[in-house]
Amino acid sequence: MFKLRQLTTITTPKKYLLLFVSFLFSASLFAQDGKALFTANCASCHSVTKKLTGPALAGVESRWPSREKLHDWVHNSSKVIQSGDEYAVNLFNEYNKTQMTAFPQLSAQDIDAILDYIKVEETKAAAATAAPVGETQTAADNGDQTLLYGILTLILAIVAFTLLYINANLKKMADDKEGIPATEPIPFWRNKAYITVFTLVLFLIGGYLITDGAVGLGRQQKYEPHQPIFFSHKVHPGVNQINCQYCHIGVYQGKQATIPTVNICMNCHMAINEYKGEKLFNAEGKEVDGTAEIQKLYKYAGFEPGKPWDPSKAKPIEWVRIHNLPDHVFFSHAQHVNAGRVQCQTCHGEVTSYNEMFQFAPLSMGWCINCHRTTKVQFESNGFYSMYEKYKEDIKNHKMDSVTVKDIGGAECQKCHY
Ligand code: HEC
Ligand code: HEC
Ligand code: HEC
Ligand code: HEC
Ligand code: HEC
Ligand code: HEC
Repeated sequence: MFKLRQLTTITTPKKYLLLFVSFLFSASLFAQDGKALFTANCASCHSVTKKLTGPALAGVESRWPSREKLHDWVHNSSKVIQSGDEYAVNLFNEYNKTQMTAFPQLSAQDIDAILDYIKVEETKAAAATAAPVGETQTAADNGDQTLLYGILTLILAIVAFTLLYINANLKKMADDKEGIPATEPIPFWRNKAYITVFTLVLFLIGGYLITDGAVGLGRQQKYEPHQPIFFSHKVHPGVNQINCQYCHIGVYQGKQATIPTVNICMNCHMAINEYKGEKLFNAEGKEVDGTAEIQKLYKYAGFEPGKPWDPSKAKPIEWVRIHNLPDHVFFSHAQHVNAGRVQCQTCHGEVTSYNEMFQFAPLSMGWCINCHRTTKVQFESNGFYSMYEKYKEDIKNHKMDSVTVKDIGGAECQKCHY
């Protein structure tokens, strides 16, 4: 319904209106800074209520002497450990000396926003222990969108009314001037203006419902389909430490990460025809026979162990696509992993611990924009940014302390929409 081409070709007063709406939109996003920062940087290892790779963060402030100390920890945890802080050393040992990522790029305010968010979440969790975290999150996202469309609809309706009113008055004035007597008022059900307004309102409500439905369709967070072969990321990039790029060859060069062909699998599986690793279990908890799964790969490849292989006989494996943005959205992996230096895990979760792949992030527009608002561009030693010399100057002269993706245009509609 709200086609972007229409939005960009509309006249000036409506443009201001749109600006106003996007201002409201970003204001409501502002309140979610802490949540966004947490999701983007910490959620791959921490939950507020559950122990993941790192401890559950509920009540963390009561375990530390001050926020300053927590800032130091998040900026560089190994420094705190090396300083001999007893609590930190014990915690580090308790977590099998797992190194937490250092976040020198987060400012003190950023970390405070995260800590505030944790506080809010722990109160929520205490209030409703039963509500799963994932669901509250989607509900909040949807609330945002509903607000946006609600306001948009209301404002458009008011503008339509005003324009019709002005139009009617102008006509009356023109008629008066020319001495044409005012016509008898027509009953409202035959009045063209009212009919137009009524149609418009119906149209807007219909459009809203359709878009709302579409938003729901686009959201597939946690989507985890059955795949034709039980292929484990825990076994491949995890235990056997195969580089993501070995299989997802496009990820540093192009838009698509790409799914590997049978030929790439066979580079290794000509030789590896048995699975002898740790026991594998599917999502239902049933044990999976890895060797039998490798046999399935051989069927697709048209390969019989011991005989020469003819790669031209290989049939493609029908992997079910999990992540899927709508066609009107532009997203490039290279831009994010090369220029933006964003880790795969930030958007896809701890892939190396998944036996079966699923969609970790919501892939909603709010998710993209939240990250662009809060993520600082890494200018240092990044040739890609030579065009932003002005910002670099401003940072040097302390006019700004950092530049977010939004500052370089990452919240402009046309950057993400065709
Ligand atoms: C790569 C995984 C990882 C990421 C990402 C990560 N952490 Fe941690 N964090 C850990 C681990 C593991 C520990 C436990 C201590 C240790 O082993 O160093 C920890 C400990 C902590 C603690 C101390 C907890 C306590 O109970 O006292 C805080 C606070 C913390 N992390 C905050 C954060 C914040 C804030 C972020 C995001 C900006 C973050 N962490 C991102 C792994 C991670
Ligand atoms: C040995 C090859 C191989 C390696 C290494 C590998 N992957 Fe994959 N990946 C696959 C295959 C095959 C699929 C499709 C089957 C599936 O979804 O499980 C896939 C699917 C995915 C998907 C979901 C694609 C979709 O359908 O939306 C993501 C995300 C992903 N991989 C991320 C990673 C990351 C991150 C790494 C590195 C930590 C990695 N992969 C390493 C082979 C590999
Ligand atoms: C900024 C977030 C982000 C980062 C970082 C990221 N991805 Fe993705 N990934 C996405 C999104 C969004 C999609 C869906 C793209 C689409 O539908 O066009 C996706 C899709 C995929 C797919 C399946 C479809 C495709 O593009 O072929 C694979 C495989 C994948 N990612 C692997 C990786 C690997 C490997 C890395 C790290 C080297 C990585 N991703 C880093 C957001 C990200
Ligand atoms: C770089 C080498 C390499 C590549 C490429 C590779 N594998 Fe593997 N694969 C392994 C290793 C190593 C094991 C573990 C063997 C063991 O532990 O006994 C394995 C195990 C497996 C298993 C049994 C465990 C499981 O995950 O269910 C299957 C099935 C499998 N691979 C399928 C594939 C498919 C499909 C591809 C292509 C998308 C592929 N492999 C690409 C090295 C590779
Ligand atoms: C985890 C953080 C993160 C998420 C999530 C994210 N991005 Fe980005 N994005 C970045 C960073 C960092 C850059 C800066 C890289 C650069 O400047 O080229 C960027 C840059 C971009 C750009 C180029 C902007 C410009 O000014 O040239 C586009 C387009 C874009 N992202 C689209 C998306 C879309 C679409 C999504 C959601 C599907 C998304 N991004 C999700 C971090 C993120
Ligand atoms: C950082 C990338 C990004 C930017 C900037 C962006 N969008 Fe989006 N937009 C998306 C993504 C991703 C989706 C798909 C969301 C989904 O499928 O849930 C989307 C979907 C939409 C939709 C369809 C409804 C929906 O939620 O699916 C509309 C309308 C829309 N955007 C309008 C805009 C307008 C207007 C702007 C400028 C104020 C804008 N977008 C800026 C990424 C972006």
